[in-house]
Amino acid sequence: MTLQPHILVTGGAGYIGSFLTGELLQKGYRVTVVDELLFGGESLLSYLPHPNFRFFQADVWEPRAIRAATRGDWPSPDAVLHLAALAGFPACQAVGRQVAWRYNVEATQHVYEQSLTLGIPRFIYISTYSNYGLSESGEPVTEDTFLNPQSLYAETKIASERYLLEQRNAPCAPLIFRLATVYGLAPRPRFDMIINQFVWEAFRNHKLVIYQRGYSRSFVHIQDAVQGILLGLQAPEEKIRGEVYNLGTPEGNLTKDEIIKLILKRLPQTLVHYKDITFGGDMRDLTISFEKIQRQLGFKAQKTVDDGVREVLEAIQQGLIKNPADEHYRNARFIVQ
Ligand SMILES: NC(=O)c1ccc[n+]([C@@H]2O[C@H](COP(=O)([O-])OP(=O)(O)OC[C@H]3O[C@@H](n4cnc5c(N)ncnc54)[C@H](O)[C@@H]3O)[C@@H](O)[C@H]2O)c1
Repeated sequence: MTLQPHILVTGGAGYIGSFLTGELLQKGYRVTVVDELLFGGESLLSYLPHPNFRFFQADVWEPRAIRAATRGDWPSPDAVLHLAALAGFPACQAVGRQVAWRYNVEATQHVYEQSLTLGIPRFIYISTYSNYGLSESGEPVTEDTFLNPQSLYAETKIASERYLLEQRNAPCAPLIFRLATVYGLAPRPRFDMIINQFVWEAFRNHKLVIYQRGYSRSFVHIQDAVQGILLGLQAPEEKIRGEVYNLGTPEGNLTKDEIIKLILKRLPQTLVHYKDITFGGDMRDLTISFEKIQRQLGFKAQKTVDDGVREVLEAIQQGLIKNPADEHYRNARFIVQ
């Protein structure tokens, strides 16, 4: 890569993208963000004066959006980080199969096709560990484990992965990260995902209703998720071309009961009600192996779920986020655990 490599981030106004954009700028990259601003654009305001930052508002499904966003005097991007999507099972469920497919599958194809014709050498796709669904054997799931989607969201992410893996020998090298569920704060925080949501509910209602308490999930702090993505940007091509990496940490494999203990440590007055019924849809019960990303990319998480609970609680207690229940912080009206 040349000095000041140029990175194009789709979905850069979102939860992960807004944090990632800040990290890229801090590390000296030039960044073009393309985002339709489904949840607003305030998350990008502090980057606007930065000489290495450009913003282009567009729906990346539009077949010429990336081409239009990269017109100008900057050299063609060195990599595309494709984050734009309807993120999460409830958001996909709310719009239905056709729209979810348009946003999460067709848009990926359109962004990739343009990346290829623009001569961009690297394409990083942010997928999800939801793709594994339920682990029937109870063994930790690796990147080679059979995918068993339990939701429309996971179906769309798998379809995008398959399309990209078919392009593994094309000049634009695809890399896939299957992220654990992210927690922590960002310029666009989300409060519709398990850790952030539990902290907010316990703080506001002094009560939590927990479904399937023994179910195991996997979590990663936003700072670690972004550091992992940066490793994918910097790694030599032979380590990333056509590769899939689970992105998270073994310490982030926790049952809901274990998360509740961490919440009760800081909010001991919280009453916890358990309901062992399913609510349909995305019922994940998984332990994830992160051995590959540690071994191949040298990834090591710095933060724990306990750190995340403390940070989110402090932001709420100090009034830094006026109303975490605001729809700006949620991708859909209903949320799942
Ligand atoms: N947050 C998580 O825990 C998590 C876990 C695994 C994978 N992911 C994946 O990471 C990516 C980012 O997730 P997030 O939590 O930051 O979501 P988010 O909803 O906060 O951000 C998504 C951003 O993409 C934009 N966008 C969506 N469709 C677009 C389109 N067609 N054109 C232009 N912009 C569009 C939205 O306006 C939004 O700013 C998604 O692909 C998601 O599936 C997230």
